[in-house]
Amino acid sequence: MPKESYMNSKSIILTGDRPTGPLHLGHFVGSLRQRVALQRDYQQFVLIADLQGLTDNGSNPQKIRDNIPEVLADYLAAGIDPSLTTLCLQSALPALAELTALYMNIVTVARVERNPTVKNEIIQKGFARSLPVGFLVYPISQAADITAFKADRVPVGDDQLPMIEQTNEIVHKMNSLFPEPVLRHCKAMLSETSRLPGIDGNAKMSKSLGNTLLLSASEETIHRAVGAMYTDANHLKVTDPGQVTGNMVFTYLDAFHSDKAKVAEMKAHYQRGGLGDRTCKNELEMCLQELIAPMRELRATYIQDKGMLMALLKKGSERAHEVTQSTLQEVKRGLGVPVF
Ligand code: TRP
Repeated sequence: MPKESYMNSKSIILTGDRPTGPLHLGHFVGSLRQRVALQRDYQQFVLIADLQGLTDNGSNPQKIRDNIPEVLADYLAAGIDPSLTTLCLQSALPALAELTALYMNIVTVARVERNPTVKNEIIQKGFARSLPVGFLVYPISQAADITAFKADRVPVGDDQLPMIEQTNEIVHKMNSLFPEPVLRHCKAMLSETSRLPGIDGNAKMSKSLGNTLLLSASEETIHRAVGAMYTDANHLKVTDPGQVTGNMVFTYLDAFHSDKAKVAEMKAHYQRGGLGDRTCKNELEMCLQELIAPMRELRATYIQDKGMLMALLKKGSERAHEVTQSTLQEVKRGLGVPVF
């Protein structure tokens, strides 16, 4: 019998976001949409990772503070139901910081430097010698987030796969130090579109690249974004056969259109020739307008009541505090650290 089968009872989901800005369509297809679908069938915790947000905004804590309600409003607007999902704040959970401190001793510098997502971010953000220590080790703190909730499922985009891998290494190593395993291994739950390209065609939609469409985007912004999207540069006349791979409009139709048969038909038509870019863009715009409009409206209402949003977060954090504190105590006992 596998050693950890005693914990296979009930799946627990933990996932989170850095509050560095309002959420966009990349978050929506990468993870948010899945969380909404999963919240009825799983015990789900969603963490606003403000401490992780500070790892590259250490001198700008106000930005992180201000974006906490923004992200909360996005969650609710997208359909996260606080009676089904526990919403909590990373900085309100001291057990996460303590677990991080314990895990840091069993992870080497070489290992954190090898994490491909972190490596990319370091280059992208141009840190060089000014790399904050906290930033380099944020995957360890993320492992603390996941393991503190005993989560075995983590719905994330594919850029987070290295974090899951590193978490499982930590779980393995820590468990081997205890008389009985305490921590649970976890698996990523990748969505169908685990990485949405930016509206400029760049491989990833990301705020730092300035190529996002927010869940709160205005009608006009959506219209302009779709209008400017790359299609197939060689598709000059409507009658020309066109390429659908690498064609942003089709990539987005795949990610967002609910009628898959219709998209398949459009693709075939486009490839044969005879279907114009304008028609495809109109279809995409209609679908995005329909998706975003209700979220934009709900969000505008929620964001007016920051008191309500923060009260929700406080309540969820209290529950999360109990769960994470209990894991911390188990870990301490397992290590033989006195627990008073
Ligand atoms: N690293 C994630 C991001 O940048 C946010 C995050 C923090 C997270 N803690 C987590 C995601 C735990 C999943 C599980 O979006």
